[in-house]
This record gives sequence, structure tokens and C-alpha cells, in this order.
Amino acid sequence: MLKRSDLRTVILAVAAPLMAFALTLLITSICAAQTPSAAATPPMGWNSWNHFAEKIDDATVRAQADSMVSSGMRAAGYVYINIDDTWEGERDAQGVIRTNSKFPDMKALADYVHGKGLKLGIYSTPGPKTCAGFAGSYGHEEQDAQTYAAWGIDYLKYDLCSFDKIMGAAGSPEAAHKLMVGAYTKMHKALLTTGRPMVFSLCQYGADAVWRWGPSVGGNSWRTTGDISDSYERMTNIGFGQAGLSKFAGPGHWNDPDMLEVGNGKMNLEEYRTHMSLWALLAAPLLAGNDLSAMKPETIAMLTNREVIAIDQDPLGKQADRVRAEGSQEIWARPLADGSKAVGIFNRFDWPQTIEISFQEFGFKGGVKVRDIWASKDLGTMPSDYKMRVPGHGVVLLRVSE
Ligand code: GLA
Repeated sequence: MLKRSDLRTVILAVAAPLMAFALTLLITSICAAQTPSAAATPPMGWNSWNHFAEKIDDATVRAQADSMVSSGMRAAGYVYINIDDTWEGERDAQGVIRTNSKFPDMKALADYVHGKGLKLGIYSTPGPKTCAGFAGSYGHEEQDAQTYAAWGIDYLKYDLCSFDKIMGAAGSPEAAHKLMVGAYTKMHKALLTTGRPMVFSLCQYGADAVWRWGPSVGGNSWRTTGDISDSYERMTNIGFGQAGLSKFAGPGHWNDPDMLEVGNGKMNLEEYRTHMSLWALLAAPLLAGNDLSAMKPETIAMLTNREVIAIDQDPLGKQADRVRAEGSQEIWARPLADGSKAVGIFNRFDWPQTIEISFQEFGFKGGVKVRDIWASKDLGTMPSDYKMRVPGHGVVLLRVSE
């Protein structure tokens, strides 16, 4: 028979290491992945989908990484090279996901991208099939997370796609919602278990007000809309449609109005300037969606404008609100860490228009100092009102301080 004191010794001997192990697991998981530090400011990089769609392969991704460095984009803060859909092959007998023939060696590709001082992102879905019909992570979440970590992946875009069919069979909207939240939580936990920090980018087109629960499933960002396209109409429907979402974003968790179309050729310079200004005001992830290996000088200049990027990446992490919309004129503003404000004055009309603002409407009392960002020009100290001519589909982006 064990004496009482012996029993206590035995319990302590067994329990203490177990508790220490559990504590280590907890600390590692809290520190390692998808913490705000994984996306303290909105992620910046490039994604293959908008320009290349399914025509993406290892050589093209390497060329994009090369160009991100040689164009000066890396120096401006862009870091992620994200492979979107269509890299997936079949699973092996053990269920491990393999790449298809376009990506002969994902680990070697990750090494190449890392060697350039950049990070590599990948794409999957909680459903059995991706949106383009390739193998998804359904039933293989832990395995896939381990595979990504072994390859050296730094970012996962997790796109709902065919999971909607599983949700459709759930029987009720509540049950469907629960399944979706469960699916994102499952991958979040699987990523944490790997111990490798990976940005977790949710993509389910903004359904069920994802901004209200995205952080609780470990999301560093969540798409708030359906897909963007290279058209002023689509881009502005999405961009100006973000009104009301600012309170849900902040360091580590961002609203994502989808990737950039700057440089893809179907909008003019004023329209791309509107796109870039609006995304910076919205503290949106800046994921270029063009071919980085064939950029015109004006595309590089626009994507690497330091003052616009500084607005997007401002450490306060406070997304802009719409101050007012009057017909085709919209005024948006966001507070910045140094006490100044970024103000976007947008003309959604096709012709130039005169737009009038008062600095009081942004909370300034006396005279203000104003800088016109796209003109790279200090406008000096100004009284309370400012009238300007804004090109059709264009913007004037100001940085205003007391
Ligand atoms: C969905 C996403 C897009 C892209 C495609 C790939 O449409 O919203 O961003 O990832 O799938 O198939």
C-alpha cells in the first residue's frame, strides 16, 4: 500500500512535467504565429491571381521575386510573394499534398524567395476543392499546415470556395455559420501547432460580417468583398463600400478589400491613384496584383510612393472613415500616429470638379499645415477652407497637421 506522502510525491512527479509541457505549448502557441506581430501593419507584397490567374509557375514566381527587389519595391516595404490558386497537385498515399508539375519543388522555391530577403505565401481552402477546382485542405488541415511549415511558407490565404456546399447541407444558417467558423478555427490551430509564424489571411468574401469574428479565428486579415477586377467601377464599388468598417481593424487584424490592380492596364493613372490612395486610407493589405517584371516607370513610382505607403503602414493602425459623401464627391480621413491626418478628396465623376473642404470637418481648430502627397508639395499653412480642382475619377491626397 502506498502511504499518503508517497502518493503526493508520485502525483507531483507525473503532474509537474505535464504542466510544464502544457505551459510551454501555450506560450509557444501564443508567441509563435498569427499574433499581432505577424501583421502589426497591413501585409505588403504581391499575389499571382489578378494578373496571372492559372498561368503561374515556379519560373514566373522567381521572376516576380527578382523584380520586387530590382524595382525597389522590397526597399519600399513589400515583402510577401504569394502564390494563389492552381499550384496544387494530388495527395500521396499518406494524404500529404503535393505540388503539380508547374511547381516542381516548393521548398527550393521558398529558399530562393527567402534568399532575396522576401517571404513566400500560399493558398488553400477549407473545402475539398479550391475555387479553380484543385485539391483543398478539407480533412487534411493539420497535415497541410505541417507541409507548409516544412516548405518554409510564411502566409496562407484560406479561401472558402467549395466549403459553401458543406455549409449548404448544414440545415440552418446558424449551423452553416458554425461550420465556417469551425473550419477557420481548425486551420488557425493547425498553423499554431507548427510553431512557424504564418500570416493567416481569411477569404470568404465578407460573408456573415467576418470583421466581427475574424480576429477570434486567428485572422490577420479578412476579405470584406467579392473579387476585384481591373475596372474603375468595380474597384470603387469595393473601395467606397468599406464605409463603416474602420472600427473592426487594427494592428494584427485588418479589413482586406482585395488585392491591387495598379499596373494591369485597364484603368488610367488618375483611377489607379484613386485605388492606391483609397487602399492606403483604408489600412488595406497592399498586395500588388500586376506583372512586376514588366512595369512602366509610372507604375513603379505609384506602387513605391513612400508617403502613400507611410499612410497605409501608419503604426496607429486606424483605418479611415468616410467624413462625407455628396453625390460624386467623397471625403475620407484617417488619424495618424504623429497627430496628423491623411485626407482623401475623391471625385467619382468622369469630369474634373471643384471640391471644397473645411479643415474643421476633420477636427482641426485653427490654421493647419498641409502637404499634397501625390504632388510631393508642401502647401504651407492654410486657413480653415480649401477649394481645389480634382480630375475626373481622380483624388487629391493630403497630409494635414495642426
Ligand atoms: C476566389 C478568390 C480570388 C482567387 C480565386 C482563385 O475567387 O476570391 O481572390 O483566390 O478564388 O481561384
